[in-house]
Amino acid sequence: MAHRWNNTLTRADTTPYAAYLNRRQVIAGLAAGAGLGSIAGPALAADGGDLTPNTWDEITNYCNFYEFGTRKDDPAKYAHLLTTTPWQIEIDGLVDRPGTYDFQTILSEMTIEERIYRFRCVEAWSMVIPWNGFELADLLDLAGVQEGAKYVAFETALRPDEMPGVQYPVIDWPYVEGLRLDEALHPLTIMATGIYDRPIAKQNGAPIRLVVPWKYGFKSIKSIVRITLTESEPPTAWNKANPREYGFYSNVNPDVDHPRWSQASERQIGGGLFSKRVPTLMFNGYAEEVAPMYAGMDLNAQF
Ligand code: MTE
Repeated sequence: MAHRWNNTLTRADTTPYAAYLNRRQVIAGLAAGAGLGSIAGPALAADGGDLTPNTWDEITNYCNFYEFGTRKDDPAKYAHLLTTTPWQIEIDGLVDRPGTYDFQTILSEMTIEERIYRFRCVEAWSMVIPWNGFELADLLDLAGVQEGAKYVAFETALRPDEMPGVQYPVIDWPYVEGLRLDEALHPLTIMATGIYDRPIAKQNGAPIRLVVPWKYGFKSIKSIVRITLTESEPPTAWNKANPREYGFYSNVNPDVDHPRWSQASERQIGGGLFSKRVPTLMFNGYAEEVAPMYAGMDLNAQF
């Protein structure tokens, strides 16, 4: 069923995702969407992990978006400076229909769904976020991926007048990221345009950002203005800044520590007094869906 973005989604829009959820998650997701989350109780993932979404306030006030500063509350303070309408995305490289795609036009072509995903930052904190968005595969279909394309490169807007953080050379701006084509086409990989059925907040990467739930959060690049299909592995911002600490793959893996801290567990943001540390799950809990893509790779060596 095609659904146009209008901020009045019904739960029917989430049904294409049902195959990825066990029945309990679906029921809890339905209840939460209808405002009955407290009656349904915490949603549990198939692996037993807690899937109760963080609050809007938590999600929008504890952010990493270095273009607006490196403190967790900088993006909430300064991201309002970013102009997000109009917004264009350049799609180029190995595609049949390269060009400038208007964000509103893209939305009119896409089916918006809700995806409640765990989100695990490389800094060892985590949240659960009820994204609204569409599969990246559908956007790539719009542009027509050519044979020979093996990777997808992404680029964030770079606007010194609107982004106070880019005056500091924390990374080599603009922020860039990349995925292998099969990762990009995986049905769990989405372009998020909303959270809690509201347009995504600027500090979370408005108007459109990538979400790859089985990888460390820095792969989920925000406020995207360019998508390029390439034959070779594209450079990525954190790998360029510190190749010893950040790799291209960056799959969540509790067995491979960051050189400066353990990745075995994570601090769940929110919950006040009930905030706790929980064990980190392989591939952030999405191993069943994504592990086959890495068959034959040494997961303890690659990060
Ligand atoms: N994208 C851009 N352009 N700039 C950034 O600084 N930070 C990354 C990622 N995407 C970042 C970015 C990191 S480290 C994380 S953990 C997530 O965004 C944070 O997303 P959130 O603030 O919406 O939770």
